[in-house]
Amino acid sequence: MTTTLRPVQTPTWATAVLQPAQPFAPTSLTVLSGAIPAGLRGSLYRNGSATLERGGQRMGHWFDGDGGILGVHFTDAGATGVYRYVQTAGYQLEEKAGKLILASYGMVPAGPLWQRFNKDVKNTANTSVIALPDKLLALWEGGEPHALTLDTLETIGLDDLDGLAQHPYSAHPKRDPRTGAIFNFGVSTGAKSFLHVYCSDATGKIQRQNAIPLNGLPMIHDFAIAGKYLVFCIPPVRLNVLPLIARIKSYSEALLWQPDKGTEILVVDQETLEVVSRTTTEPWYQWHFGNGYELPDGSITIEICRYPDFQTNQRLKEISTGSIQTAAVATLWHLRLDPLSGRVLDNQQVLDRSCEFPVTQPQDVGQPSRHTYLSVHRQATDVQTEVYDAIACFDHQTGTLTEANLGDQRYPMEPIYAPDAQNSEQGWILTVVYDGAMNASEVWIFDAARLDDEPVCCLALPAIVPLGFHGTWKPAD
Ligand SMILES: [Fe+2]
Repeated sequence: MTTTLRPVQTPTWATAVLQPAQPFAPTSLTVLSGAIPAGLRGSLYRNGSATLERGGQRMGHWFDGDGGILGVHFTDAGATGVYRYVQTAGYQLEEKAGKLILASYGMVPAGPLWQRFNKDVKNTANTSVIALPDKLLALWEGGEPHALTLDTLETIGLDDLDGLAQHPYSAHPKRDPRTGAIFNFGVSTGAKSFLHVYCSDATGKIQRQNAIPLNGLPMIHDFAIAGKYLVFCIPPVRLNVLPLIARIKSYSEALLWQPDKGTEILVVDQETLEVVSRTTTEPWYQWHFGNGYELPDGSITIEICRYPDFQTNQRLKEISTGSIQTAAVATLWHLRLDPLSGRVLDNQQVLDRSCEFPVTQPQDVGQPSRHTYLSVHRQATDVQTEVYDAIACFDHQTGTLTEANLGDQRYPMEPIYAPDAQNSEQGWILTVVYDGAMNASEVWIFDAARLDDEPVCCLALPAIVPLGFHGTWKPAD
């Protein structure tokens, strides 16, 4: 039995970050309130850092944790939950040794300087998931994905999707609902850096790819589909290579905010994967994009959770200590540009509220859409010391925000949209909530059109599921 690592006077949410996850075999979930909707049939998958310590040593950044996957399967017989660590080579090596050994995003390798050079970087498989017809991929942006079984989450192994050639496959793949094609990218670093852009069929197998030269060694986390284009906003964060190679600094510590470089916007054609335009504009940082789409005049709009700088990286490091000192607030922006010239036509904030993890209905990706679902801070919450404590829906047509009131000491993860299997007009928002008062994790299901109503169903999970990063919904076959 693992005891909580939460020290005295740390915030309530810290338990759901610091306490190592306890895996559980497929378990029938108890309905705490309401009922599972008849049209909610399929599986919710979530990924995140499952443990931030080993052998009494703490990891350096929230992004360093070994990946742990939650699966919740909804069938006519009810809901079943399962949680497993991804059995990466690094996890198995360090688990067997009972100590931290490898380099990771926020850590230099263990040991004295002269022993660090030959130690690998750990592929933690902790960032997101994509569900393919016959496997689940656990994603990490610095390497290849790990394949897992869809039902019991057993690790099959690294998967090169028949074409990665050891280049990274990032954690934000996107499906174009018109074609079923899956687009993603990976940044390779070396003497020159490249943005590898991939197009896979619905099975995940890579069909086409292109390598686009980059300026310096930037950090690229996400992109947007907008009609027939893929849009990348490359923030002015550059890797300072020498201290990284010398293993004096971790990857995270070697990232430099260089606002004078501006943000570079790269528009790529979906069909050819060639660059259509690239232009540089004012500096900002973003982790995530909401939706994007083409307007009738040929311009494109993308939604961005935009930060003024890269302080967010420091904040995310501090989360792994259970105490946050650094405020870093993202708000929702719309960027409109001419894709052919790259000229920025409009760039403005549309929601003045601390928010992250923007998602749209999967059937609207790349196409005009009205609603964006987000994690938010409640109006009265201290945005410096607290993690997101509500989810909400922003209506782009009316400019209004509808919030789900989860109550005090409850911390939801990124909202996931699940279309109803019986009614195409209906959808459900699923989130995994850490209830600090109960010291328990639960699955909450909301009617997507009525987030301000009570949840239609709450389910108990058999163990605390650490606050994680990203998830997905796989409809039943
Ligand atoms: Fe992300």
